[in-house]
Amino acid sequence: MEKQKNLFAFLPLLIVYLCLESSPAAGQSQWLDVGFTADAEESGGQFQPLLSDPTGIFSMGFLRVNSSNLDIAVVHLPSSFPVWRASPSDSAEASSSASLSFNGSLIFSGIKTGVIWSTPVTAGDRVVLLNSSNLQILKLGETNSVLWQSFDFPANTIVQNQNFTSAAALFSPNQRYSMKLGSDYLALFMEFGRGIEEPMYWKRTALQSKNLIIAGDGPLYARVETPGFIGLYQKENAPVDVVPFDSFGRGIPGFRRLTLEDDGNVRGYYWNGTVWDSDYAAITGLCELPSPCGAYGLCNAETGRCGCLDNRSNGCFPSDSGDLCRSGDEFSVLRSKGVDLGNKEVLSFVKVGNYVECEQLCVKNCSCWAAVYNNGSGYCYPVNYPVQTVVAVGDEQKMGYFKLRSAKNDGGGGDKRKRTEKALLIVGVVAAAAVAGVGVYRLRCAGRWRRRRESLDGAAPGPYKDLNSGSFRSIELVDSFRK
Ligand SMILES: *[C@@H]1O[C@H](CO)[C@@H](O)[C@H](O)[C@H]1NC(C)=O
Ligand SMILES: *[C@@H]1O[C@H](CO)[C@@H](O)[C@H](O)[C@H]1NC(C)=O
Ligand SMILES: *[C@@H]1O[C@H](CO)[C@@H](O)[C@H](O)[C@H]1NC(C)=O
Ligand SMILES: *[C@@H]1O[C@H](CO)[C@@H](O)[C@H](O)[C@H]1NC(C)=O
Ligand SMILES: *[C@@H]1O[C@H](CO)[C@@H](O)[C@H](O)[C@H]1NC(C)=O
Ligand SMILES: *[C@@H]1O[C@H](CO)[C@@H](O)[C@H](O)[C@H]1NC(C)=O
Ligand SMILES: *[C@@H]1O[C@H](CO)[C@@H](O)[C@H](O)[C@H]1NC(C)=O
Ligand SMILES: *[C@@H]1O[C@H](CO)[C@@H](O)[C@H](O)[C@H]1NC(C)=O
Repeated sequence: MEKQKNLFAFLPLLIVYLCLESSPAAGQSQWLDVGFTADAEESGGQFQPLLSDPTGIFSMGFLRVNSSNLDIAVVHLPSSFPVWRASPSDSAEASSSASLSFNGSLIFSGIKTGVIWSTPVTAGDRVVLLNSSNLQILKLGETNSVLWQSFDFPANTIVQNQNFTSAAALFSPNQRYSMKLGSDYLALFMEFGRGIEEPMYWKRTALQSKNLIIAGDGPLYARVETPGFIGLYQKENAPVDVVPFDSFGRGIPGFRRLTLEDDGNVRGYYWNGTVWDSDYAAITGLCELPSPCGAYGLCNAETGRCGCLDNRSNGCFPSDSGDLCRSGDEFSVLRSKGVDLGNKEVLSFVKVGNYVECEQLCVKNCSCWAAVYNNGSGYCYPVNYPVQTVVAVGDEQKMGYFKLRSAKNDGGGGDKRKRTEKALLIVGVVAAAAVAGVGVYRLRCAGRWRRRRESLDGAAPGPYKDLNSGSFRSIELVDSFRK
């Protein structure tokens, strides 16, 4: 390590660049000091490592997100899974002009776009990656202090022993769903932007069977614990709720993560040495996901098949975008019987006398996209967000009123074409640059590529929390079937 440090200090910057860019050994750096800078390599594969954790299982570097984008990520190397990403909603166009530097703060920038992401301005001395996958900026001293850590800014994943607080949120990679903590619950939300209040579609309220939530005693935080559960805490070692995974208590040593995925589900996984085995899903029924069949889709829980509210066979009514308020209230109407909402248990409702009253609550209100009525209970559920998938039910007493935004306001097709043309242009430029760059990249620094694989990739079994199994049995999972 000492040797490597000296090299970094004395060799001309250019050579350091080349080493960092083209040698896998560079990914074995165990820390980055002020002055560090590295450019994304055009020929670099899916992942270009820059900084390794002490076990060699995690690495921070440039991640190619898709054919055209780059991000900074911490990757679990055995699986190539990014456990953390710096800027999932705003990544750089993949080109050799993207770079990462450290001047006390970490700065990810592209020549065309400027700074894409950076940590807050800190006077850090060193960047390290811990064996927990936590990326930290340290102020060196008698006891190093942590100025910033990636654990406080999760993307779509939290890993074992990572505190998830109410100051943080998980967002699915497609940015359509989020997970947040409330005062006494953990919940999932749809994200529409455009000023639409995020509707909830799943909620786990703390059962408080082991410990009570005390008002004013600090916010809740959640953590994935190595015996295999999500603990909700207000105070350390005294969970106010425990959500057990299928593998709970089986002594599984594999590294665990909890991930909010593009379908809006949150799943727990452990690394079994070869694959990520899933042992938890917040939502267990297809039709309870927020949009398994897309906007205006109809999900049949019995057959697991998708259809459309308007009986189309070739893609349902396209109305995932736009705004009923701004489009001057132009819409047509679709009424349907035998439909229900998958998330109605967490939506608010109004009790009304009949279906017509329910419909009237929605008709004139441009922030209302639909209303679903249960003629049995008299409950009316206004849908104050763009219509997603609804559930087909046998019960004709359940009926819905749906607004169809006038098609001429749909737009967007032209934009998409323009984006594709732009992407094609970039691919061309990139290809030319790659050819020109081949000569430079041949100049590779010799390096050792050591990867210490430990049993199950270094997942250290954490302290077993003393929670008797009897109480686990009595815990009801919230994966209730909403019928
Ligand atoms: C690549 O990912 C970015 C977000 O990370 C997204 O904005 C972009 O549309 C994606 N491009 C393609 C071609 O999928
Ligand atoms: C590091 O660079 C950023 C962006 O260029 C700048 O805003 C910041 O002030 C710099 N920090 C230091 C300590 O120079
Ligand atoms: C999580 O929070 C607890 C309680 O505040 C703290 O003791 C622990 O160090 C935190 N863990 C991490 C990884 O930050
Ligand atoms: C991990 O899971 C895969 C697929 O289920 C299986 O083939 C493999 O044997 C498992 N590995 C271990 C170490 O159990
Ligand atoms: C869709 O088809 C069903 C059964 O064929 C019918 O009852 C319903 O009215 C149709 N809905 C629409 C919107 O056409
Ligand atoms: C429209 O619906 C929203 C959401 O339910 C509600 O907050 C608002 O008061 C309604 N507006 C009117 C004019 O009824
Ligand atoms: C709704 O319920 C009322 C009485 O509870 C009944 O008279 C009416 O026929 C029902 N309407 C439909 C559409 O099922
Ligand atoms: C991770 O690091 C901590 C402290 O730095 C150490 O106690 C622990 O044993 C390490 N775990 C592994 C699997 O290396």
